[in-house]
Amino acid sequence: MKALNLCVLGGTGFIGSHLVYRLAGLGHSVTVLTRRPERHREFRIGSAVRLLETNPYHAIALQAAFQEMDCIINLVGILNEAGKSRYQGAHVDLPRTVVKAMRATGVKRLLHMSALNANVNESRSRYLKSKGQGEDLVHHTPNIEVTSFQPSVIFGPGDSFFNRFAQLLGMSPLIFPLACAGSRFAPVYAGDVVNAFVEALGNDSLIGRRLELCGPGTYSLQELVQYTAQIVGRNTRVIGLPDFAARIQGHILGLVPGKPFTIDNYYSLQKDSVCKKPALTALGIKPRSVEAIVPTYLGDSYMRAQYGRYRSQARRS
Ligand SMILES: NC(=O)c1ccc[n+]([C@@H]2O[C@H](COP(=O)([O-])OP(=O)(O)OC[C@H]3O[C@@H](n4cnc5c(N)ncnc54)[C@H](OP(=O)(O)O)[C@@H]3O)[C@@H](O)[C@H]2O)c1
Repeated sequence: MKALNLCVLGGTGFIGSHLVYRLAGLGHSVTVLTRRPERHREFRIGSAVRLLETNPYHAIALQAAFQEMDCIINLVGILNEAGKSRYQGAHVDLPRTVVKAMRATGVKRLLHMSALNANVNESRSRYLKSKGQGEDLVHHTPNIEVTSFQPSVIFGPGDSFFNRFAQLLGMSPLIFPLACAGSRFAPVYAGDVVNAFVEALGNDSLIGRRLELCGPGTYSLQELVQYTAQIVGRNTRVIGLPDFAARIQGHILGLVPGKPFTIDNYYSLQKDSVCKKPALTALGIKPRSVEAIVPTYLGDSYMRAQYGRYRSQARRS
């Protein structure tokens, strides 16, 4: 494939950092838009990746950034609302501004990150509804050649699923009460998600498609958290909360700084996050399993964090 000029929104996050380095490694020239370049100095690694401070809600700023681009990749998304970060803004207004700026600059190709179960008709989870609205909006915009991606939960170094549960298990060492323990997931490896984006870049038959991305196995949330405990060497017993207690947990933890769990998360988890039409195998990508990848990063990063905590405690005493 010829080297392309690519512009990535949301490229400084978990998936973005996996994707951007891969695209640069393939010889593409990658511009990553960010609201806060000072927080992402690690991206200043050479001429193939350019970090550009941009307000992604500002059409004129996006038009300036999109000049000479072959493709726009939008990864922006938020799991929870906080401060000025709202679902409507990040998942609907921002994609609307992106396609408007693309039309103004004549850039046609868009790779858009959505989520499994995103649905404009979703009645309770505002995360899934707004993701569905943004996805439909970009697919229905004339002259935009879009491929959208609907992954289940994504894992890999730096993820906020296994790493987050490893951290929470450390705070509740004996018994871990878990909301929505029976919800099912088909976790997909970040490297396989990246492969799907790379495939879409060079494959015009994927224009107009909405690709469901899942890993090879399905697990209940309880199984995944129990597995996390095993990998980080904890004997914690993971216990599923009854539905009424899960709702209460969503209301209470939604008020805690960092929002470890919210009522909107509770609503999202009422639907299993598993693929009806899994796309990876059809794209020639063999999805990798949780068991093959998670122990390669979770055990180590967890032990490093524990060791760091031990050293700072030792220094204080
Ligand atoms: N991680 C998963 O398991 C998973 C599963 C399904 C779908 N997804 C979707 O995949 C995408 C990427 O996920 P991720 O885990 O990589 O997310 P992430 O680590 O939180 O990164 C998202 C990036 O988007 C930008 N951003 C965050 N909030 C924003 C806001 N309110 N307005 C504008 N920009 C904002 C940030 O860039 P700057 O601060 O540099 O501007 C951030 O680096 C999201 O759309 C998410 O919904 C993720």
